[in-house]
Amino acid sequence: MELKGKVNTNNFIVGIIGMGYVGLPLALEFAAKNIKVIGFDLDPSKVKTINKDKKSYIKHISSKKIKEQVERKTFSVTSDFSKLSVPDVIIICVPTPLNINREPDLSFVMNSTKEIAKHLRKGQLVSLESTTYPGTTDEDMLKILTATGLKVGKDFFLCFSPEREDPNNPVYSTSSIPKVLGGVTKQCKELGVLIYGKVIEKIVPVSSTKAAEAAKLLENIYRSINIALVNELKVVFDKMGIDIWEVIKAASTKPFGFTAFYPGPGLGGHCIPIDPFYLTWKAREYDTSSKFIELAGEINTSMPFYVVEKVIHALNDHKKSIKGSRIIILGLAYKKDIDDLRESPSLKLIELLQDHGAKVDYNDDYVTTIPKVRKYNFNKKSVKITPSNIRNYDLVLLSTEHSYYDYEMILKNAKLIVDTRNGFGNFKNKKIYKA
Ligand SMILES: NC(=O)c1ccc[n+]([C@@H]2O[C@H](COP(=O)([O-])OP(=O)(O)OC[C@H]3O[C@@H](n4cnc5c(N)ncnc54)[C@H](O)[C@@H]3O)[C@@H](O)[C@H]2O)c1
Repeated sequence: MELKGKVNTNNFIVGIIGMGYVGLPLALEFAAKNIKVIGFDLDPSKVKTINKDKKSYIKHISSKKIKEQVERKTFSVTSDFSKLSVPDVIIICVPTPLNINREPDLSFVMNSTKEIAKHLRKGQLVSLESTTYPGTTDEDMLKILTATGLKVGKDFFLCFSPEREDPNNPVYSTSSIPKVLGGVTKQCKELGVLIYGKVIEKIVPVSSTKAAEAAKLLENIYRSINIALVNELKVVFDKMGIDIWEVIKAASTKPFGFTAFYPGPGLGGHCIPIDPFYLTWKAREYDTSSKFIELAGEINTSMPFYVVEKVIHALNDHKKSIKGSRIIILGLAYKKDIDDLRESPSLKLIELLQDHGAKVDYNDDYVTTIPKVRKYNFNKKSVKITPSNIRNYDLVLLSTEHSYYDYEMILKNAKLIVDTRNGFGNFKNKKIYKA
């Protein structure tokens, strides 16, 4: 049966490469609609955790949902890529990081594409979801897939449909977030819309895969630049004795033409600090530059240094040097109420404070020990937040405002506080320094 017929009768199998923050929730959406899903991942521990333990390894994704789908046999995961010939639809959700020279590292996407090419058969649709520069799908991937001799739009189909997952968002979930989609040909687009329409409420088709790739980059560049803007204004207003948080609250009452963005200790997460530089890199190929992106990157990267200056200043006001001071960082994840450490500015803060000779501990109930990551290897365990523990530190540095923090209790027991998130915004006290 043709792919369209299979999709119309819900008689198709979906393969998802990359069982991470993006791939796993998407797999569960298809499985919940009785569409069989095979997950592909190189990490054997993820394969075991899902198939054998029937558990989740991501805090905001419930083990119950995984158990249900695994037991119904609508969902399984494998590391055996020869099974890529089984699914009718293959969706790629692998990382797109930067390399050490801050250039796009497309190796995960390209390796996945090469694996698909080995097993590609007539009637399959391939869709890339990983954030990337325009041209990845219809230039880089297409070249590998057409080298098989199969024709795009006729024998196989190719789309780009960016992921807009917002971990822990209480209002929007995978299915209710509209999904942009571009196809390499008209047939690719039509089939892509039909397939994603099975699990996503609203599909937004665009004229090309390049337009879809660019739309995702625009969304993330918009965030990066606006966060940089409020971070810059935070520093300027602070010098003038004006509180940026009060200013944003007031400006937000404008019912049109203003969207609030908030300052912080620096950018975190897998997307916003990284994705804009995919465009910067590609722009060079066209003899053009992207100054806004570079400037925003510079400002956001400088934020942890600004926070450390504030820490030094606060300690100095209390006749203490940073060297030898005991500091506790509250919140290690890059965003409140999640367990994701990727690019978290808290890690940079630990490094900078330790470089200055401070003794640094941290609390994060979602990250109880710090795993070894590419840049850092801290051997630390989360310290419990109790009144007596707080009293042990010379300074409390709020980096991520997890909802479980009892700010009143912390304020009562802390000697000094540096607040990068306005967690203590409801209190007026000389021992609170905003950064
Ligand atoms: N996390 C988010 O909130 C989010 C939001 C929007 C877009 N994105 C984009 O989605 C993509 C995936 O991000 P993520 O957060 O899901 O990453 P992740 O690191 O959570 O998951 C990626 C998974 O892919 C696996 N993997 C890597 N290479 C593989 C290969 N060749 N074959 C099979 N499996 C492989 C890894 O083991 C891992 O389990 C990225 O491009 C990211 O920019 C992420």
